[in-house]
Amino acid sequence: MPARSLHAHPALRADKPIPSTPASSNGSALNGDSETDQRASESTQRFVLHRNLQQPPFVVREASNTYQLLEDDRNALDAAGGAAVSALGHYDEEHPLLGGFWRRAINAMISQTMKGAYSCSTMYIQDVVKTYAWELIESTDYKMSRVGFYTSGTTAVNASVKFAFQYHREKTNPEPSRIHFIGREQSYHGGDLGTLALGGYKARQIPYQALLKESVFHHVSACNPYRGPRPNEDTKAYVDRLVQELKAKIEELGPKTVCAFILEPVVGAAGGCLVALPGYLKAVKKICKSYDIVLIFDEVMCGMGRTGKLHAWQHDGVVPDIQVVGKGLSAGLIPLSAMLLGHKVSDALFKGSGLFAHGETYQNHPLSCAVGLEVLRCIRQPCILDNVSKMGERLESGLKNGLSGHPHVGDIRGRGAFWNIEFVQDKQTKQSFKKNIAGAVVEFVIALERPYQLSIYSSTGCGDNGIEGDGIILAPPYHIDMALVDTIIKNTVQMINDFRFDLV
Ligand SMILES: Cc1ncc(COP(=O)(O)O)c(C=O)c1O
Repeated sequence: MPARSLHAHPALRADKPIPSTPASSNGSALNGDSETDQRASESTQRFVLHRNLQQPPFVVREASNTYQLLEDDRNALDAAGGAAVSALGHYDEEHPLLGGFWRRAINAMISQTMKGAYSCSTMYIQDVVKTYAWELIESTDYKMSRVGFYTSGTTAVNASVKFAFQYHREKTNPEPSRIHFIGREQSYHGGDLGTLALGGYKARQIPYQALLKESVFHHVSACNPYRGPRPNEDTKAYVDRLVQELKAKIEELGPKTVCAFILEPVVGAAGGCLVALPGYLKAVKKICKSYDIVLIFDEVMCGMGRTGKLHAWQHDGVVPDIQVVGKGLSAGLIPLSAMLLGHKVSDALFKGSGLFAHGETYQNHPLSCAVGLEVLRCIRQPCILDNVSKMGERLESGLKNGLSGHPHVGDIRGRGAFWNIEFVQDKQTKQSFKKNIAGAVVEFVIALERPYQLSIYSSTGCGDNGIEGDGIILAPPYHIDMALVDTIIKNTVQMINDFRFDLV
């Protein structure tokens, strides 16, 4: 397998220092001799199925605090936590805002492992799962009623689709004709064939298009404040138009055939931190209620404190029928996701068959729940959520001050610890680049550590056709201080100013 090239892209400026010799990897299973270590590391890379088979990822030697130290000694401030996953950064016993979270999480893992890491959830449950479910439901002010724990965003969204389907068959006046699901363009709900079809992430759908045919999944426009409104159309008129589009789709399919409508209250990587406009969620809920269509909020990326409220829907006070969370739920410590059910849908099954037909081996997993519980107790604290909001304001003003005048920065948007910088070829027409700029920028930052020192994430497909258009996402951990926020702003601005868009 070819070694990862640090000169992969023409936009990488040759006048920047490029690290060439990887340093030794102490503390690993390798022997401390840098050349031997690198050879061992490279040869074991080929046994891993990477996303990009030809270009394996960089090796992280250690992640601690808010930094990731790479195998070759380059240190990067983790400004994205992967795809907005590491909500509490990496191991850090000292940070005052975290109040000993990491020690408690480690202790919880150890003690739960000693009590019983796994019990088959069909027949058994452990106390930690009940406590976690209770605290999570309590965090919604009991607006939600029950919760099931799964392993990934995909599996939880998949469960929500099945639950909505069963709801219509078990409610007081069953409607077995309801088979259709409506999602939105520029959205992502998961990687299995069902959730992939449910979303509107074209770049990920195209390679599997033949398998996604004959779908019961349909789409309407996303709420996109940057690209959606027509010239001179105000927010209210735009929201009204989106709601009419949804209504028209429901009527076209036949109201009695539609099961559920799913959306991300703040769209993640498929749209690049698109925050729903005021009034949109409320209007959508009204429509869904009037047709008895289950409203599912996918908060896998934007939920669990990422936007400054524990649940993204709490900004607008619009409660979904089903809510799905993942990523930040366990802050990257363990694979974990959850489906929270509102009273209406939960009660229907309880009074109906009493059986949710869907099941998974690692559902309601005690060890995962022990970790999730510690994460929840940490991120629910007002000091953490307030910090996210304050940091969001600082990120917004810093990024806008530094980048609004850039000829290729079309839009800077987001909320809390979740921001996207969208790149465009032409600011007037909002025309996107034909090529993947964000991927090149990410490469650029990783390859040239100094002076940027950032780990960032890319969003793709946010242009008008849902294939082109991209940006970079900043999703720092919830507890970082303003000095680090300023470093992120400074380095991001400098990095985008240095990036040669003309060479891509
Ligand atoms: C909004 C949203 N839903 C669902 C998923 C799927 O989650 P996972 O990759 O954990 O299966 C993602 C992942 O990026 C996501 O952003």
